[in-house]
Amino acid sequence: MTPLLTAEAVTVRYGSLVALDAVDLRIPLGQRHALIGPNGAGKTTLLDVVAGATRPTAGRIRLGGRDVTGLGPAARARRGVGRIHQRPAVWGSLTARQNVLVAALPRAERPGRWHPTARRRAAGHTADALLDRVGLGDVAATPAGQLAHGQRRQLEIAVALAGRPRLLLLDEPAAGLSTVETGWLVEFLRRLPRAVAVLLVEHRLDLVYALCDTVTVLRDGRTLATGSPAEIRSSGPVRQAYAEGVT
Ligand SMILES: Nc1ncnc2c1ncn2[C@@H]1O[C@H](COP(=O)(O)OP(=O)(O)OP(=O)(O)O)[C@@H](O)[C@H]1O
Ligand SMILES: [Mg+2]
Repeated sequence: MTPLLTAEAVTVRYGSLVALDAVDLRIPLGQRHALIGPNGAGKTTLLDVVAGATRPTAGRIRLGGRDVTGLGPAARARRGVGRIHQRPAVWGSLTARQNVLVAALPRAERPGRWHPTARRRAAGHTADALLDRVGLGDVAATPAGQLAHGQRRQLEIAVALAGRPRLLLLDEPAAGLSTVETGWLVEFLRRLPRAVAVLLVEHRLDLVYALCDTVTVLRDGRTLATGSPAEIRSSGPVRQAYAEGVT
């Protein structure tokens, strides 16, 4: 079967720095895949390339077999790519609800069939349901800029889900979260329907092993290993790479 996401020999150069060097990645529908590796390994760069935010110097990205290398972030989002950033990215001056609404509206479009009011109502229902689902129902009317870090993380998840992604890119979603918030996040991600595939960048291996079916280890822009959590856990080179450089 055609994988949901294929990265083929993706290379990203910044001047003389090679951030990614011919990296391959294959994620089937519904798979939970982790991307781990030391600081500067190229993990965020690979998410940028998959999301369409960075154009690779060489290589191709396919979604469902279709070459999307030339498409930008908005077009990738329409094709089902959702993203959680390393630092929560929400509109600070908009309320939590408005943030989700902005993401839900395009998905509520039914050209020629629906009146704009009906569309707004449908998007409103989606936004309210998602805010409840991530536990932000009580702060729906609060400007996102006034929310605590953990709440902004929850909001960004709701915004990403409002776009109905088939592939969710998560860049260190547990960073800066308390133990309780991290527990919530893990439980939430475990319960995500399998219709949503996940590509998770995470330093905490306990979270990776709790959430993911497969793991790719990057170091200095190269793939060091890909395999099941058990295979990765017992890999000598991986343990060495970790001992050398994770903060
Ligand atoms: N826009 C850019 N211009 C120049 N160099 C960049 C740019 N973005 C990333 N880099 C470099 O590319 C390399 C990979 O960076 P990247 O952010 O992908 O690493 P990472 O694996 O996400 O690290 P971390 O675990 O610290 O988040 C680093 O050496 C970084 O300094
Ligand atoms: Mg990063």
